[in-house]
Amino acid sequence: MSRVSERLSTIGKSATMAVSDRARRMREEGRDVISFGAGEPDFPTPDHVVEAATAAARDPRNHKYTANSGLPELREAVAQVTSRDTGLAVDPQQVLITNGGKQAVFQALGALVDPGDEVLIPVPYWVTYPEAVRIWGGVPVPVPPDTGLKVTVERLERHLTPRTKVLVFVSPSNPTGVVYTPEETRELGRWAGERGLWVLTDDIYQHLVYGDAVFTSMPAVSPELEDRWVMVNGVAKTYAMTGWRVGWLIGPADVVSAAANLQSHATSNVANVSQRAALAALTGPMEPVWSMREAFDRRRRRMVELLRDIDGFQVEEPQGAFYCFPDVGAVVGRLGLDSTIEFASWLLEEAEVAVVPGEAFGAPGHVRLSYALSDEDLDRGLKRLAGRVSS
Ligand SMILES: Cc1ncc(COP(=O)(O)O)c(C=O)c1O
Repeated sequence: MSRVSERLSTIGKSATMAVSDRARRMREEGRDVISFGAGEPDFPTPDHVVEAATAAARDPRNHKYTANSGLPELREAVAQVTSRDTGLAVDPQQVLITNGGKQAVFQALGALVDPGDEVLIPVPYWVTYPEAVRIWGGVPVPVPPDTGLKVTVERLERHLTPRTKVLVFVSPSNPTGVVYTPEETRELGRWAGERGLWVLTDDIYQHLVYGDAVFTSMPAVSPELEDRWVMVNGVAKTYAMTGWRVGWLIGPADVVSAAANLQSHATSNVANVSQRAALAALTGPMEPVWSMREAFDRRRRRMVELLRDIDGFQVEEPQGAFYCFPDVGAVVGRLGLDSTIEFASWLLEEAEVAVVPGEAFGAPGHVRLSYALSDEDLDRGLKRLAGRVSS
């Protein structure tokens, strides 16, 4: 009998966290590492949120366990902002407050996936989706993109089998920054609905869209899905609250109740102080969010400009989230390296610049660079990268 269960032995550490950890260790050794690895805003949480949390920490009511599914006020606020932002009618009873979007993804898949069920995951994908499918005994089915790093109905259709149960959809996307147009979103949603599939829609980057891009939540434009959708979201990316660990899932009563039962045994309620902070974020002014978005937009354009100057980097302009996902295959070849994993290691050692290799997202040949870092570090890091890659 093996010491570690077979199921967990197959789960790898999150590759994005592995890069951040290594960059952090190098920094601790005194090296001037510039990291493009982070998947989190570099801004502090807005003041009014921190103040609400401070007051909450002093209130003994928040020192106790509360309802497993979350504070009623917070569920209500989530229902309201979701209706405001998507046009969907959402009842607070359909909302389960979770420890970040990550727990929402795990629990939603836990509620939907039986062993052997197939889950369609457009490539490049966020690292956690396939692992979260596997942990429940499901089979992740990566679906390669068409042009522009987007998946199409034709591609999905080719990967459909009688065991297909769920389509995972995320727009704006991590790792590509791609945003599907309302028409594209509708078309994919209609396809999934007509095939009787469920959709797990991850709307966590909904407020981070730039230029002409608009966010569309798939269930809102896909009546064919009926009630077969689960939405994942949270405060982490929008309000610079990654460390507070508050997310949620929204779905039909049976799925939400199954996920809540699981949560009641796994973690129970999310920390109350964090829930109070999330409530302040959702019900407070949006100006801090818009000014962060403005900064991301500026850095996005700067990053694209600098990356396009590097011989051998091919860059599609991202329209959302805070990532660029250049194709660096030509540079990897020129350097005589075998993979983008090797390239990322080489870059860290040689230029003290951290990027995440595309293999982590099922897309070798690319790297992910986050532009959630200061303008100054962004410039310094990319110039250093360009200098080392071109020499
Ligand atoms: C696409 C996507 N979904 C969900 C999450 C989960 O975020 P959190 O658990 O911090 O709320 C992330 C975080 O990186 C993400 O990129």
